[in-house]
Amino acid sequence: MAVEATLQSLHSTVSALAPVQLAVLGALAFVVAAFVGRVVYRNLPGKQPPILEGVPYIGGLLKFAGGPWKLMEEGYSTKGEVFTVPVAHKRVTFLIGPDVAPHFFKATDEELSQTEVYNFNVPTFGKGVVYDVDQKVRTEQFRFFTEALKKERLRKYVPQFATEAEAYFSRWGDSGVVDLKQEFSTLVALTAARTLLGREIREQLFDQVADLLHDLDDGMRPISVFFPYLPTAFHKKRDEARVKMGQIFAKVIQARRASPVKEEDVLQQFCDARYQNVEGGRQLTEEEITGLLIAVLFAGQHTSSITSAWTGIFMINSKDKDLAAAVQEQSEIMARHGPGLDMDVLGEMDVLHRNITEALRLHPPLLLVMRYAKQGFSVTTAKGQTYNVPAGDIVAASPNFAHVLPSVFDRPLAYEPDRFAAPREEDKKKPFSFIGFGGGRHACIGQNFAYLQIKAIWSVLLRSFDFELLDPVPDADYDSMVIGPKACRVKYTRRKLQPARA
Ligand code: HEM
Repeated sequence: MAVEATLQSLHSTVSALAPVQLAVLGALAFVVAAFVGRVVYRNLPGKQPPILEGVPYIGGLLKFAGGPWKLMEEGYSTKGEVFTVPVAHKRVTFLIGPDVAPHFFKATDEELSQTEVYNFNVPTFGKGVVYDVDQKVRTEQFRFFTEALKKERLRKYVPQFATEAEAYFSRWGDSGVVDLKQEFSTLVALTAARTLLGREIREQLFDQVADLLHDLDDGMRPISVFFPYLPTAFHKKRDEARVKMGQIFAKVIQARRASPVKEEDVLQQFCDARYQNVEGGRQLTEEEITGLLIAVLFAGQHTSSITSAWTGIFMINSKDKDLAAAVQEQSEIMARHGPGLDMDVLGEMDVLHRNITEALRLHPPLLLVMRYAKQGFSVTTAKGQTYNVPAGDIVAASPNFAHVLPSVFDRPLAYEPDRFAAPREEDKKKPFSFIGFGGGRHACIGQNFAYLQIKAIWSVLLRSFDFELLDPVPDADYDSMVIGPKACRVKYTRRKLQPARA
């Protein structure tokens, strides 16, 4: 009865209040609730991550301007595996190393979202695809990628990788000096054109499309991440190139769809694909196909060509050991299978495979992978400290930094491909130790494609040439969006590798 009376009296009091008073009371209640919530939240089993700032408000910005690598070094050495850098009105929380990585890689898109951090790609990829569509449509579009890059499809692409690589290196002289990064940039573009964009582009329109891709590439600079629509000359060229790409592909797609012939490439997969659970099960539009092709090209072009270059630079630098072992493996495989290359033969190249992985460990081309925290979450460090990362933070993991932690990899700065072989298998001790291809929910869809492509290229090279490094192993060029080696001269000399004797 007492409770009833109290409620009755409260009800009469509230009813008697004017709307303005009610609004003030409501606002007050909200502030109190937010304050209490914050206090309670801060006192949950953990607390918020330590802040790396220096000068308030602009300190984080200054630290970013000094380069993300320096920032991570300072943050990790002074604050540990989890720390937050306030950048103007935003906060970036770094999660460094496998102990604090699982949620980053496993979370759903409702928990940690990509759209907010990767939508600077929209003007390059185009409207209606990837980061310009809602989660349901994006999931289906990623399914198209997965279908186009699955095992039985890859089997058809391997001979095309080999044909392109053989044709390309047949144009090298008997000896010469090259910069591998430049060479592989061109070769990977040719193989990508053939396997992803299609025969028509590779055979008739390559130069035109390569020029347009160059303008799209040049239109994606560090400033574009923050201001993708800033009215600059390079953004204008990017937008014009995107329109022209759409026009070129519209014609190719119309001709494909009118033809009874089915080609063995990703373009054909996209032409034939249909949405399943969204968009009424319709086919993709020409604009969507163009956008998805550009997206897949951006995901796989620089990453693969840079990894091919680092693999070569490190192997040649370790000429007597790692290069010799890779050449020996080639001659043994030729003794078993003859000179041909297919998916199964490439699958036997374990030594080459480990060289690629080790090059990627030391120099992953993507410095940061990021998400936007739609929901707060907690992480516990190796030492058992729990931190609560609040909703609204940008969360970042760094393959580059995580790969050189001495707690995860022995002698982390040394090039030792055998660390991935038994009995060492250092990457297997904890999940998410090796994250060159990301991991978990958004792991790289093109990983197998990339290994096959790089193996095909290096298999052809190892069978045909001797190499010598004319410069020391170069530094990474942290000024570019996708991080590759600075210039490095390599001398090649043509020879013919014989199969190993039994
Ligand atoms: C050595 C070469 C490559 C490296 C190092 C690499 C690295 C990565 C990384 C780190 C991610 C995860 C990004 C994140 O978590 O935010 C990723 C995602 C992705 N990669 Fe690769 N990649 C390579 C080659 C390729 C190739 C050749 C393709 C396609 C032909 C490709 C297609 C994709 C796609 C579609 C995603 C998005 C997956 C998703 O968000 O669910 N990648 N890649």
